[in-house]
Amino acid sequence: MQTIQTINELKQIIELNKDKTIGFVPTMGYLHEGHLALLTKARIDNDIVVASIFVNPAQFGPNEDLDRYPRDIESDTQLATDAGVDVLFVPSAKEMYPFESGISIGVGNLSTKLCGESRPGHFDGVLKVITKLFNLVQPTKAYFGQKDAQQLAIIETFVNAYNFPVEIVRVQTVRELDGLAKSSRNVFLSEQERLEAVHLYKALQLATETWEKTNDLPAAIAKGKEHIESNTSGKIDYLEALSYPTLQSVTDDTKEVLFATAVFFEKARLIDNILKEKK
Ligand code: PAJ
Repeated sequence: MQTIQTINELKQIIELNKDKTIGFVPTMGYLHEGHLALLTKARIDNDIVVASIFVNPAQFGPNEDLDRYPRDIESDTQLATDAGVDVLFVPSAKEMYPFESGISIGVGNLSTKLCGESRPGHFDGVLKVITKLFNLVQPTKAYFGQKDAQQLAIIETFVNAYNFPVEIVRVQTVRELDGLAKSSRNVFLSEQERLEAVHLYKALQLATETWEKTNDLPAAIAKGKEHIESNTSGKIDYLEALSYPTLQSVTDDTKEVLFATAVFFEKARLIDNILKEKK
């Protein structure tokens, strides 16, 4: 595996491999089995696998965890090598954003719900870095986790609307044995919070089961919230059900329903979701 820090090196490698299929996995590092599922799929599907590790300042708000976002480049390098990555792109912020263009990408409606509501500008920052990375890597396929369902919906819609020549591949959420979705931010949980955190997924399961049994969405949401409130010390940011990937209120025409939640613990805000087909 080649690890590179500069855009010039990346461009040269992409030019050399222009006749090959390229699978791309963008990450912010501190790799875990969720990321590895994306890398494994990319390895199977493509001639060349490019992964990036970049803790993107553009997608963090002023009071968020940019400075303390966990990093471990040694372990990441080993894991990426073992997963069969060919090129690991690890740019600095200066390399990615050498000047301020003053031009931004505004996500609009899709970012007014769920995480977008409590993280203003977050998804604009995600699209800023993804646009640059797609232009540089020119991937045949790019891999994203269902764990970040809103991010995935926004990227799919963006690529579709603006004709990016890339296929977006959805990868299912990878979980710990007890059901907690794997996340780089899980290291911020205290021992007690780690035990409680499993109840995000349990609450979503309870909500989806209630909805499937009763068809009563408000009651299902209430049940899920109540479960988190009585089983965790966390503060609910949201627990909602919306159409997917349009993120609108559920109607008779909705095909897929996203049950999603975000909960604040002392030092981490965790998210999880379940996607269900509407009967
Ligand atoms: P990061 O949080 O590092 O996640 C990188 C990719 O791994 C995303 O597509 C995410 O959905 C996926 N992922 C994370 N945890 C997962 C899990 N438990 N199961 C399956 N997939 C999982 O998401 C980002 O970085 C950034 O916003 C990025 C897209 C790199 C842009 O900066």
